[in-house]
Amino acid sequence: MTRRNLQSPPMVCVIPGDDAAPEVMRPTVAVLRELAPSIRFVEALCGREAQAQCGDAFPAETRVAIDAADCTLFGASGGPSRPILWYLRWGKETYVNVRPVRWYPGYRSPMLNPERIDYVIARDNLEGMYPPREGDIAELVQLPSSTSWWQAPPIEKVGAYSVRVSTDEQMRRLAAFACELAQQRQATGYPGRVTLGAKYSIQPRTDGRFRTLVQEAVSAHPELSYQQFLIDDLGRRMVASPETLDVVVLGNEHGDILADVASGSIGGLGLSPSACYGEHYAYFEPVHGSAPDLVGQGIINPTAMLLSGAMMLEYLGYAEEARALETAIAQTYREGNILPIDQGGSATTLEFVSAVRTRLAK
Ligand code: NAD
Ligand code: IPM
Ligand code: MN
Repeated sequence: MTRRNLQSPPMVCVIPGDDAAPEVMRPTVAVLRELAPSIRFVEALCGREAQAQCGDAFPAETRVAIDAADCTLFGASGGPSRPILWYLRWGKETYVNVRPVRWYPGYRSPMLNPERIDYVIARDNLEGMYPPREGDIAELVQLPSSTSWWQAPPIEKVGAYSVRVSTDEQMRRLAAFACELAQQRQATGYPGRVTLGAKYSIQPRTDGRFRTLVQEAVSAHPELSYQQFLIDDLGRRMVASPETLDVVVLGNEHGDILADVASGSIGGLGLSPSACYGEHYAYFEPVHGSAPDLVGQGIINPTAMLLSGAMMLEYLGYAEEARALETAIAQTYREGNILPIDQGGSATTLEFVSAVRTRLAK
């Protein structure tokens, strides 16, 4: 997906994020600067550092920097930077989260035949159980619909509820995006197949409606094929028959969970990039979190961050540079002598990035 109306040259806001995320962000930005010197990168304060310097983990200047940029490259939130992530999602209405799931030779996958894994998850980035809306069970009886529920809410008990929301507008644009993505992939040799995963059997008003809208969207494209699975069965298929998947469209929390499962199938969170697109903004972040258990060790795998950077280059119109970066990463894994620790090697974050850089230069 390439954005029209980019500034020339484009401007990127960099939010390093929390815990170990800056350790992958900083070398990634260095590689991107080298690859595309015309792009202007502006790093903004975030999280604990912003809290310490300005008394606010999301200072006004950071918001201004996000707004002024064509897109944002985001590390990960370990908590302190969460208000920034919320702004990038709901403030900028980035409605779809694209999470490619692709095995490259050299990735340490636990699967028997990982070469079959090459699909993309299109996840709702705005609705479902996000942002959190919770309350006391007793409040539920005030809902007129509660009288028609199969079981009355147990108001005599102490407990809480969580609300899951789906609007037609969001489900329609997510479905349309999934079709567009399937068409684009089809043009490069993929089957052009949209797979819906949802709990339409149990939640007809939300997931049932989602199914109807995705079906409708796909049927407007005779060149595309469609399949649907209950979300639990889809989870099994991601392990048993990933080669049957092309573009997988999922609700927010289902997509969150299954993207990590999918990442595990190719070799782990260190390898999985993502891009979040809206009508007027985009941001790019790895699927993984802030990896607090790795902080300060210099061993976090930068592949997911680098590949997110490649998705950003593509969005900004630097397709050739994006391909070059992906190819250099693939080559580094294929050769297999300099691998990050989570992939069975002994390279530090910087040693791995330096290996990729060397292959870029060739
Ligand atoms: P996590 O993704 O940070 O880590 C899970 C496991 O994967 C850990 O063992 C970690 O060491 C490993 N891992 C993650 N990224 C890696 C990488 N690049 N290289 C090697 N190993 C890697 O998830 P978590 O531990 O459940 O959550 C930590 C924090 O991150 C939480 O605060 C969570 O909310 C947050 N989080 C943020 C985002 C985001 O900003 N979009 C995404 C997921 C989790
Ligand atoms: C992700 C993360 C986030 C999510 C958290 C940090 C809110 O897990 O981006 O996958 O649940 O969407
Ligand atoms: Mn997640």
